[in-house]
Amino acid sequence: QHRVSTMGFPAVPAPPESERVCVFGTGDMGRSLGLRLLQAGYGVVFGSRRPHSSSSLIPHGAQVLGHAAASQSAHLIFIAVQREHYDFLVPLANQLKGKVLVDLSNNLRKNQYPEANAEYLQSLVPGAEVVKGFNTLSAWSLQNGPSDANRQVYICGESVEAKQAVIAVAIKLGFSALDQGFLSVARELEDFPLQLFPQWRLPLRIAIGLSAAFFFYLLIRDIIYAYVTQSKDISFRIMVSLANKVCPIVSLIMLSLCYLPGVLASFLQLYRGTKYRRFPDWLDRWMLCRKQLGLLALGFAFLHVLYTLIIPIRYYVRFKNRTTQFDTTTAWRGDSYLSLGILGFGLYVLLGITSLPSVINTLSWREFSFIQSKLGHLTLLLCTAHTYLYGWNRFLSSSTYKWYTPPGYMLCLVLPSVVLLLKLLLITPCVDRTITRIRQGWERGADQ
Ligand code: HEM
Repeated sequence: QHRVSTMGFPAVPAPPESERVCVFGTGDMGRSLGLRLLQAGYGVVFGSRRPHSSSSLIPHGAQVLGHAAASQSAHLIFIAVQREHYDFLVPLANQLKGKVLVDLSNNLRKNQYPEANAEYLQSLVPGAEVVKGFNTLSAWSLQNGPSDANRQVYICGESVEAKQAVIAVAIKLGFSALDQGFLSVARELEDFPLQLFPQWRLPLRIAIGLSAAFFFYLLIRDIIYAYVTQSKDISFRIMVSLANKVCPIVSLIMLSLCYLPGVLASFLQLYRGTKYRRFPDWLDRWMLCRKQLGLLALGFAFLHVLYTLIIPIRYYVRFKNRTTQFDTTTAWRGDSYLSLGILGFGLYVLLGITSLPSVINTLSWREFSFIQSKLGHLTLLLCTAHTYLYGWNRFLSSSTYKWYTPPGYMLCLVLPSVVLLLKLLLITPCVDRTITRIRQGWERGADQ
């Protein structure tokens, strides 16, 4: 075995070529990757334009050579260089023939170039096997070791052997690799890191839209109404009373929006008599963001609980300090709606906790769907009952309808009531039997 000399460090025995990998590029990504490769026991050779001046940058134990020499020392070469600088590879085409080139690059925005960086690289060096991969990792996560959130490495490429070689390295570094298919997928993989909370966008828009709509609705009904009809300034109520209406209202509507698509999907399957037809795109997209809808709804419910907790210490409430006749019915009503609220909130938190990936991993599919579906609908039922009891018989009094408008809590009861009614229909024995058969693969009209 020959020995290689690392710049400024004692010579170390060179690992066999299969255990040696090459990294082109001494930027953050290249250096972090090199360090992890070294820690995993690989021999690492850096390829650099100026090997002498780069030697101080590279991790201890790695070797740095010119690009041509470096590419000869290993079969697998990580290209940790920006796409704009890829042309330096063209004169190396001969040395790179048959080598596996792993393209790590990312772009600054979508559609920055006509083709994916990995496809461009393949066109520059047609004799090499280009594999796209590792681009969804950051230099930071490479240095700190994989955490649960970024264990996954996505790769794609034309050659199965080349992909296998890259997967083997990924696994040795502690990642789990997912083969995404041919190089044509590279563009998708390159767009991946550019996405900013993609599944949160729609739920966030819904939350902001609902909050704004109900805020203005309640502002008019509660504050402006009092000002116009009784010349009373109760604008201070915006800060707590109004907030404590907007939050639970938005929460309850969003919780129903979490369960509505599932119910609609069941009815669609019933109507079609088969599970083998795709749902419309909008329904698919809606179902995919249920978790985010639910977590945001939980956030709003949490704010409602906090606002409720401070009610007794509010100056306005202490000042009022009414002394009224004790009435058992009112006590029952108050205690019941508070108790249902507390139970609903307890289950709400349970749903939130069981949507965390680390908890999901400990549950079987049956357990997960039991909690998210059965307990989820129960949560919706409890929160809806809490609001109905809060409203009690106020719907009978005409003073409730200021300027002929219903109060916010009545409006927010519409959607959960519809979802619960539809769900009730779905769990009636005869409908439930048909749905179960459809889910097991039975198709209407197929038995004749
Ligand atoms: C209203 C307590 C959980 C939905 C209220 C009110 C109280 C209360 C005191 C009346 C507020 C007021 O007078 O302005 C609680 C407690 C909870 C809880 C103690 C749990 C610890 C929930 C949950 C939801 C919810 C989980 C579901 C999203 C509502 C709604 C209203 C309401 C929609 C009517 C708001 C309005 O005045 O328009 N709750 N609640 N509550 N609560 Fe809760």
